Amino acid sequence: MPQLLSMDPTNVGFRWLMTFALALEVMASMGTPAFGCVAAPARRQSVDILGRKAHFSTAMPRADLLVNLVRAGSQGDQRTFRSTVEAMAAEERAKRHGPLADRLEENLRQPTPGPKAPEVVRSFDGGHGGLLYEMEPRRSLDSIFLDSTVLQPVRELVEEQQRAELLRSYGIEPRHRVLLAGPPGNGKTTLAEGIAFELMVPLFVVRYEAVVGSFLGETSGRLKRLFDFARTHHCVLFFDEFDTLGKERGDTHETGEIKRVVSSLLLQIDALPSHVVVVTATNHAELLDRAVWRRFQLRLDLPAPTLAQRVAWFERFESEVGMALGISVKTLASRFVAQNFSELEQFCLDVRRRYVLALPGADIKRIVADRLAQWKGRVGPATAAKD
Ligand SMILES: Nc1ncnc2c1ncn2[C@@H]1O[C@H](COP(=O)(O)OP(=O)(O)O)[C@@H](O)[C@H]1O
Ligand SMILES: [Mg+2]
Repeated sequence: MPQLLSMDPTNVGFRWLMTFALALEVMASMGTPAFGCVAAPARRQSVDILGRKAHFSTAMPRADLLVNLVRAGSQGDQRTFRSTVEAMAAEERAKRHGPLADRLEENLRQPTPGPKAPEVVRSFDGGHGGLLYEMEPRRSLDSIFLDSTVLQPVRELVEEQQRAELLRSYGIEPRHRVLLAGPPGNGKTTLAEGIAFELMVPLFVVRYEAVVGSFLGETSGRLKRLFDFARTHHCVLFFDEFDTLGKERGDTHETGEIKRVVSSLLLQIDALPSHVVVVTATNHAELLDRAVWRRFQLRLDLPAPTLAQRVAWFERFESEVGMALGISVKTLASRFVAQNFSELEQFCLDVRRRYVLALPGADIKRIVADRLAQWKGRVGPATAAKD
């Protein structure tokens, strides 16, 4: 909280506050009751767009615009915040309140603090641009589609971590080494984020390109620095595409050296305290040798979505957007054979996009049918291989 209210103009909280004050000023200048309900239905449009209330105003700044602004601020929703302020500025300009519109835009132009979720929020300089970076976890485990054979052990690990004190009082350590395998786009990175979210700890992602140097001595020094840092934090330490290291063993003429790097890495992972949850991900489990597998207490497979999962995905989408898609979810799921969850996500995003652009009078049934046809005709790895 103190950070939120800091008077530093680059501070997010401070800037929200300033914009809020400015908005109030606009209200006052227009004689609009800021917290009252503004009754001007003729000039107001409130539309429900795929589950989200959008308010358009053709005249005075309104209480709902202000409410949008505050909601966007409190939820850290930069996009809604910007579009609301832009709408206010446009309105003011239309009413020939140029200076006020300028001031609103001016405030908006100030550099925004880096976006979050789950982008980088901090980098640790390891002399070569940082050995790892921190991502802010935003996804809960509930938001991820996981088979119970995956979800249950993950929930157990989370519980063991959360109740580690009790376990330790019996001389037992919680589990903390996880290996995720599966084709791209099926939630490996998202699951690492979900674990960090549930544990309310930071997610540190290792940057191999910064860790692996041209000289072995260099690399082991950096590895040591990385692990020294990690062990002093309660965190999730994420090694993505773990097989790249393994693969390099065969590719390089310095095979022996890389081999030593990998074994040193594995030894260090072994030696990590249990408050560091190590999550490693690989698209090519077959490339990892036994020495790697053995290290991990949880070894989980994240496969492509099944038909039942696709049905569940579209059911959730329908309930999120608050409307039927004009085609039964079962039919849709059987026609849209997604290679991975990421494609399901993209498809639904496409539907939303086209729906919004077709307003008013958007025909959801037609949009879904068009999307299906377009996705069918896409070039993919399979089609590309045939050419
Ligand atoms: N099992 C899943 N449940 C929900 N969303 C998923 C799932 N798998 C992937 N996604 C979505 O697809 C995108 C890519 O997922 P990601 O975790 O980066 O895949 P991977 O790391 O396995 O390549 C993410 O934006 C995520 O929201
Ligand atoms: Mg990934």
